[in-house]
Amino acid sequence: MNCIEVNNVVKRFGNVHALDGISFSIPCGAKYALIGPNGAGKSTTLKILSGLLTPDLGEVKIKGMRPNSKEVKKILGYLPEDAMPYRTLTVLENLEYIASLRGIPNPREKALQMINIFGLQEYMHTEAGKLSRGNLQRLSLALTIIHDPEIILLDEPLNYLDIPTQELVISILKSYILSTLLVSTHIMSIATRLATHAIIINHGKVVWVGSIDDLKKMGKENEPIESIVARIMTGGIT
Ligand SMILES: Nc1ncnc2c1ncn2[C@@H]1O[C@H](COP(=O)(O)OP(=O)(O)OP(=O)(O)O)[C@@H](O)[C@H]1O
Ligand SMILES: [Mg+2]
Repeated sequence: MNCIEVNNVVKRFGNVHALDGISFSIPCGAKYALIGPNGAGKSTTLKILSGLLTPDLGEVKIKGMRPNSKEVKKILGYLPEDAMPYRTLTVLENLEYIASLRGIPNPREKALQMINIFGLQEYMHTEAGKLSRGNLQRLSLALTIIHDPEIILLDEPLNYLDIPTQELVISILKSYILSTLLVSTHIMSIATRLATHAIIINHGKVVWVGSIDDLKKMGKENEPIESIVARIMTGGIT
């Protein structure tokens, strides 16, 4: 069964064709990276999948349901490009509040658990608006997955994180074995660590879909994966 289906989606902003008839599907439990250059349409795709934007044309289904349905909201975790938790609430308050809204039985306990997992103990009583950019990203990630979502959509999740924290977040995300993951990035090392498959888009169109192993095989001897992807994006391989 496919948990994510995108069929011929078009999204325009004035004259800009952000998505120009994009289609792909992701089986339940699969881990996919959404790769593309700046302005390719990655964030727009994720916004549509999370129900924040509606397509002008085409159809999107999450487990066969509309993205903005109540059922989908319960099972979906979405990290926006520049996530901003409640600025005047502390780290603990943000997590406890979202845990309560999500109907998690013991919100305080869950909030403290997330603080431990993401190494935010030192900042638990700091207002979100006063956190460093990296710590804000840790909090945003914790808020995204606090309800153990079945479908996880992450827009550039490792932005702003130092190297040890990137490793921490990769191991946290890898523990979500059963969840369906779609992660946008233009950093290939992140894609290869978090995903087994890639969807490459450019100018709002899918230009390549397949397994990362197949992607690597398309390279010339010892060619770095970045170079293969660059050739695909510029039309050197179809
Ligand atoms: N709200 C908006 N209003 C007008 N144009 C928009 C809006 N959102 C996105 N766009 C345009 O749509 C196109 C796709 O943008 P999008 O943010 O999806 O790209 P992206 O692949 O996420 O890029 P990046 O790697 O820079 O994050 C770009 O040309 C962008 O300028
Ligand atoms: Mg983006």
